[in-house]
Amino acid sequence: MLIGIGLGPGDPQLLTLKAVEALKSSDIVYVPGRLAADLVTPYTDCEILDFPMTKDSDVLNDVWKKNADIVAEHARDGTVGFGLIGDPNFFSTFTHLSRVIYEHHPDIDITTIPGISSITSFAARANVSIDTSFEVSDGTDIRSKIVLKARRPLEIVESLATDGYDEFIFAEKLFSGEERIIKTREDIPAKGNYFSIIYAKKQDKKE
Ligand SMILES: C[S@@+](CC[C@H](N)C(=O)[O-])C[C@H]1O[C@@H](n2cnc3c(N)ncnc32)[C@H](O)[C@@H]1O
Repeated sequence: MLIGIGLGPGDPQLLTLKAVEALKSSDIVYVPGRLAADLVTPYTDCEILDFPMTKDSDVLNDVWKKNADIVAEHARDGTVGFGLIGDPNFFSTFTHLSRVIYEHHPDIDITTIPGISSITSFAARANVSIDTSFEVSDGTDIRSKIVLKARRPLEIVESLATDGYDEFIFAEKLFSGEERIIKTREDIPAKGNYFSIIYAKKQDKKE
């Protein structure tokens, strides 16, 4: 089992209890750099895996494969934690690592623990409140959308489909005893609870 553990934005007090528990109970913990290592070491030892910042795709593919093999070897028979700055599912090394592990080692179970991301950290530190729709971008095309307060999920899905979105997830009351996550469009209900989210994605353009 491999667990991507969100370590928050860099303040040692902004790790979640669940993150700390996962760090302590992992057989081995890897991190992609010194900042993440400093957040992990109060709880357990960790190893830094090198992820060079280069655009050379040959170098990148070699490094991803090498690191995926190292992590998968340990995750096959034990619990491996992989600690990351912010949240492991937002613009994260973990996304690429888990994709390569899935390609080459599909038998490994992968899960993530959310962390406080730079997006909400920024709002807190800069005293900025966001309460209307906003855009987060790293310069690439916008291919996904999250709709909050999704009380009428089906209506939202139908409207997004006309804008070219073709993959949808409905999520309700996350991390509660009544959590519902629906990934099949046909099963998305007409009515949702206030604590509901629609996630929509467009296919990557084929060049
Ligand atoms: C590879 S992304 C990692 C994002 C991270 N997974 C998250 O959830 O915030 C790196 C970018 O996140 C932003 N970032 C992450 N931590 C930050 C911090 N403590 N302060 C400001 N920006 C931060 C910066 O824009 C940085 O270039």
